[in-house]
Amino acid sequence: MTDSSKTATLTIDGTSYDLPLLSPTAGPNVIDIRKLYAQAGVFTYDPGYTSTASCDSTITYIDGAKGELLHRGYPIDQLAEKSHYLEVCYLLLYDNLPTAAELEAFEATITRHTMIHEQMHNFFRGFRRDAHPMATMVGVVGAMSAFYHDSTDISDPRQREIASHRMIAKMPTIAAMAYKYSIGQPFVYPRNDLDYASNFLHMCFAVPAEQYEVDPILSRAMDRIFILHADHEQNASTSTVRLASSSGANPFACIAAGIACLWGPAHGGANQACLEMLKEIGSVDRIPEFIARAKDKDDPFRLMGFGHRVYKNFDPRAKVMKQSADEVLDLLGIENNPVLQVAKELEKQALDDPYFAEKKLFPNVDFYSGIILEAMGFPTSMFTPIFALSRTVGWISQWKEQLSDPAHKIGRPRQLYLGETARKYVDVEDR
Ligand code: CMC
Repeated sequence: MTDSSKTATLTIDGTSYDLPLLSPTAGPNVIDIRKLYAQAGVFTYDPGYTSTASCDSTITYIDGAKGELLHRGYPIDQLAEKSHYLEVCYLLLYDNLPTAAELEAFEATITRHTMIHEQMHNFFRGFRRDAHPMATMVGVVGAMSAFYHDSTDISDPRQREIASHRMIAKMPTIAAMAYKYSIGQPFVYPRNDLDYASNFLHMCFAVPAEQYEVDPILSRAMDRIFILHADHEQNASTSTVRLASSSGANPFACIAAGIACLWGPAHGGANQACLEMLKEIGSVDRIPEFIARAKDKDDPFRLMGFGHRVYKNFDPRAKVMKQSADEVLDLLGIENNPVLQVAKELEKQALDDPYFAEKKLFPNVDFYSGIILEAMGFPTSMFTPIFALSRTVGWISQWKEQLSDPAHKIGRPRQLYLGETARKYVDVEDR
């Protein structure tokens, strides 16, 4: 990894320090500053990690300038077109695409872990009826560590694997139960004769009173949404999972931390915020007003579903999602959907606007996903839980990779301290 012929030189007050340059298989070189503090007594400063590689990884590669996303080397558009979610899960977890026998065994294992401990139903019932499903998911996933003691020993690779399988298998059940609870319907148990996406749709939309047939076309669209969200290298929630895990925390606690981070509107919460924004815009004639607001530095409003820390070109996931939105609405016979019309026109006007062009702001994965999910029958509050269940495999794969590295250490950033220096305590009566 280190290219010994190349170093970067840092000069501080006339003293020079040679810093090794690490060469990746793709992407920019990385200056190794691990010994910098010991050698030079200085820290580096990068609060949003805009120039910092927090780890090495072999899972996902993003070329933001090209708009390229690869999982284990495979482009996301090929995976979305040719593969299916559980195969992508295998790829992320185990480095390579499975053979037919490996895939069959993996699918059988995941399918058999889909039920949750019956006693865990009580956790759901402890939440207020109007709790956001993300709040319920953070709590219930964290509580899994109190139920699955036989898979919390992170020093045992087999226990790590069982925890991984459990989380991939149970997350749709937990997300669907959070939804059912929020609308006052009975929980629907998983069905092992259905594929992963169909089972999730069934658990969300079936009721005991009548037969529910999963539409295979909607199931395929659901599966594609799962694939498009499966992993995205060191984003905020994945970095949260890695940081939580670096202390040796159990896997369920780490994933609960990831879910909490994902919830924010700058991250996974953007899909809900985006659909709400599109509805607020309401009609194409109001688009210029909202574009003007997004450009106004005195207005905190931003175009939701636009812009990305890494992509300075089209988010390749957004391209697939836009195509999927057209297909799903067409299949459902939803013609001239006003929200889709607003979205398409907003995308066009924003891309033609010099502000967005200069700042390289393009639609991201969240721009069209809400339109599809709503057409499928999901309320906005379920958009981020669906993102969370899809991303679980990414979190778990990154967690597994981190723990398999014998050199891993607790994550402990330093700071640029700007507070008071030491001062003497003053008794309350003298203040
Ligand atoms: N609308 C208007 N202006 C924007 C937007 C936007 N959506 N995004 C960025 N900008 C401007 C921003 O004001 C800044 O301008 P200036 O340089 O004049 O101060 C410039 O573009 C750079 O923005 P930034 O906030 O420094 O960029 P960042 O990399 O820190 O933020 C982001 C990335 C995704 C948080 C941001 O683009 C954003 O808030 N987008 C809307 C929320 C969203 O769609 N999030 C989903 C991200 S993709 C799914 C996921 O990963 O969860």
